[in-house]
Amino acid sequence: MDIRALRQDDDREPFRSGDADLDRFFLKYAGQNQFRHHIGTTYIAVEDRRILGFATVSPGQIESEALSAATGRRLPKYPLPILRLARLAVDESCRGKGVGKELLAAVFELALRMASDYGCVGIAVDAKPDAVEFYTKFGFTPKTGVAGGMHVSPSPLPMWLSIAKLKKAGPGVA
Ligand SMILES: CC(C)(COP(=O)(O)OP(=O)(O)OC[C@H]1O[C@@H](n2cnc3c(N)ncnc32)[C@H](O)[C@@H]1OP(=O)(O)O)[C@@H](O)C(=O)NCCC(=O)NCCS
Repeated sequence: MDIRALRQDDDREPFRSGDADLDRFFLKYAGQNQFRHHIGTTYIAVEDRRILGFATVSPGQIESEALSAATGRRLPKYPLPILRLARLAVDESCRGKGVGKELLAAVFELALRMASDYGCVGIAVDAKPDAVEFYTKFGFTPKTGVAGGMHVSPSPLPMWLSIAKLKKAGPGVA
């Protein structure tokens, strides 16, 4: 299995996560957001040209007040750069085989690279209720105050993983 950026000729049609909104996003918008509008990039887990899962990321920002008092106090009072994990989904037929974990590890590497290349204080995700435990397992904690969240129902839980924690634990953070 490879993890790489989506290409224009990848066949997204057969992908089914079981979540109609995620599938519609992947089929209709992931490509145009990446190739035409440049507002987010989708990374795919792919095997023999079959797409097993995807993770979409984009840059975002957070106010230092929204970080823990100890961290926020040391940082400037203007919006700080973050990596937003906008979407993550694995095909229903290959759940529980480590595909989600591999995609998350790739996102962690992107955040670490962003931090060293041009700045990133952490990763934010709006976790669907069923996925909160998954993200908790990899070090995310509930967070309020991250700008640019999704407005969907049932309400997602904003979650957060700081670069400091990620650097300490490495990409396999748990
Ligand atoms: C959440 C999701 C991405 C996980 O992908 P996956 O490939 O099935 O997960 P993995 O096999 O990589 O699991 C990695 C670990 O997380 C655990 N895990 C997976 N899904 C979990 C869940 N929903 N809750 C708690 N733990 C979970 C696995 O048991 C595994 O634990 P282990 O390493 O101790 O064995 C997938 O279930 C999915 O696409 N769900 C629907 C869409 C969704 O909710 N996306 C998140 C949107 S915010």
